[in-house]
Amino acid sequence: MISKKGYSVKLEEVRKYLMESVTGLPELGVILGSGLGAFADHLLEKQVIAYKDIPHFPASTVEGHAGQLVFGNVDGRRVVVMQGRFHYYEGYTMHEVIFPVRVMQVLGVSGLVVTNAAGGINPAFQPGDLILIKDHLNLMGVNPLRGANLSSLGPRFPDLSEAYNWDWRQKALVIARELGINLQEGVYAALSGPNYETPAEIRFLRTIGADMVGMSTVPEVLAANHGGMRVLGISCVTNMAAGILKQKLSHVEVMETAGRIEKQFVHFVQALVKVL
Ligand code: HPA
Repeated sequence: MISKKGYSVKLEEVRKYLMESVTGLPELGVILGSGLGAFADHLLEKQVIAYKDIPHFPASTVEGHAGQLVFGNVDGRRVVVMQGRFHYYEGYTMHEVIFPVRVMQVLGVSGLVVTNAAGGINPAFQPGDLILIKDHLNLMGVNPLRGANLSSLGPRFPDLSEAYNWDWRQKALVIARELGINLQEGVYAALSGPNYETPAEIRFLRTIGADMVGMSTVPEVLAANHGGMRVLGISCVTNMAAGILKQKLSHVEVMETAGRIEKQFVHFVQALVKVL
């Protein structure tokens, strides 16, 4: 188990390293999901730091994840982008999974945009749809906030009644309309993975109120809320969840669909970060 002191010391070392490595501190964090990394490529005044070069950062292993922090701006709005995230199913501890969000927090980031590839459970959704996350179900069986609470980072019992900020959701809906994107809203259920779900699990998830399912996002959102950040979440429906259509699921399909809507996704996130 990680000690409070050990964690604070690590965070401070990373903060110092990044402050010395980049010019201009970010105000907003962005986490890019599987196949959705292109937003980072289009940043202005880009400064790229590979995870492997950052002290105490775990290294990214999954296909489709570049594994780097990208600092830059969109029309002057300074952002730090995780191009590739750490998944629990890769074997990282929950503390490792949320470590980059803590790093953003100590750098002064006050808002986070999280994105992911997800399976669509709501039959109104189609592969290629972008869905605004309005709430989540944490079904991962673990919680990144478990253990000693660092009160300098946040409260012991954080409130999650608006885990996905209402004002930001309204802004996202307005921008989507302006861009001609049919942005629907949904509840994201997070499971630990790495297998895709069974059809029975998907029927269960639908019954308990899930609209989409994935294997990420919730840990980072918990850490961000704990740290007092505002959060906006967007899922890209890369496939319909198991049993909804009579077809098998594959990572190849997930990456192909994400690639197909990448351009629209980049425009949307670019427009969003300007107003959040
Ligand atoms: N299930 C879980 N995670 C996913 C899926 C899915 O169907 N698609 C993309 N990520």
